[in-house]
Amino acid sequence: MSGPAAFLSAFAHALAAMTLYAAGHPARERAIDDAFQELHDLQAAAPNALFTFLGDEIVFGNLPVRELKAWDWSRRLAQAGIQRLEFADRVSRDEFEGFLDEVLARLTLSAIDTSETHQLRRSSIRFGSVGVKGDAGQAEPPVATATISYSLGEEAETVRWFQDAVKSQGVVPLTEAEAVVRSLSIAMHSDRQLVIPLLQLKEFDQYTTTHSMNVAVLTMALAEHLGLGARDVRTFGIAGLLHDIGKVRIPLDVLTKPGRFTDEERALMNAHPVEGARIILKSEEQLELPAVVAYEHHIMLNGGGYPTFRFRRDCHHASKLVHVCDVYDALRTNRPYREAWTQEKTLTYVRDRAGVEFDPELAGAFVRMMQQWEPQLAVMTDERTPLRPAGT
Ligand SMILES: [Fe+2]
Ligand SMILES: [Fe+2]
Repeated sequence: MSGPAAFLSAFAHALAAMTLYAAGHPARERAIDDAFQELHDLQAAAPNALFTFLGDEIVFGNLPVRELKAWDWSRRLAQAGIQRLEFADRVSRDEFEGFLDEVLARLTLSAIDTSETHQLRRSSIRFGSVGVKGDAGQAEPPVATATISYSLGEEAETVRWFQDAVKSQGVVPLTEAEAVVRSLSIAMHSDRQLVIPLLQLKEFDQYTTTHSMNVAVLTMALAEHLGLGARDVRTFGIAGLLHDIGKVRIPLDVLTKPGRFTDEERALMNAHPVEGARIILKSEEQLELPAVVAYEHHIMLNGGGYPTFRFRRDCHHASKLVHVCDVYDALRTNRPYREAWTQEKTLTYVRDRAGVEFDPELAGAFVRMMQQWEPQLAVMTDERTPLRPAGT
């Protein structure tokens, strides 16, 4: 098989393996390694590898790839808006896996608008629909569109659905949780600059949904800001999304109570980290990190908060990270018992509590990130409204 055809079949094999096997599974890793190796070999001969998928036809550069005549993936990719795929220069393994993840999410989540061109941030892989920019045969890469036409409606719907599923069945549907995180990550990377899409709470009873999504987005942004790899960023994102899952055990009237809690209600509230960890561990062994984060996200650096440890120990890095994002989003939101704080007041709080409540390095990084990326915050008052960065 020629280089382009060999790469494409390895690429399809990797996508199939990724739908079957969870991250870390040897069969999945092997399939990704193989595809990555094929790409590497292909780029040794053709550094700017450009594919075009047009229904049944596949074009590599200007030449049709005939060996894959009945290749089902060409149609599927085209339908998902990936009609053009370009590997501009050296692609890292991490970048490649992140790209595969995004392609999978596009193939599976209908919420995604397929009409625009995508570019992974700091990435040498571009993909999108044909005709965004000129002739498909041209070497010039397509340019990412300036405005984003995502809404987070489908994601919010999925989060509500899996929260209900947790409530009734006691286990977390992992595939859906992962799909939401992937899709949020795509929304964050759909422009040339990173976008931080945050939902504004409208109804108090929706708090756990909007808050979970916001914490997932902020956690991924901070993890990325700190230079973590794509896979870790997404695992941290799942931990952010699931950190309050234990709240499904708390009646809504307690969750939305405007006044002070009784001792009993307080005890119920304070049990959500332990409950959450229990639910997550019962659901899926591989969700070990999200379980740890659910358990630890209310524990302060100085040992305060809850639950309390009988023997003091350090919390996981991911827990400390989620803790900062969690407090930030909670303070920025209108609650039944107080108004939302301003951005400035909230960031001052985070800074002031560094070394006491928050890990000082993470608190500092969070504040710097929020200041630096302020124009990229996209606060959406309606989950169905397409999001735009604040600067546009
Ligand atoms: Fe919490
Ligand atoms: Fe929270």
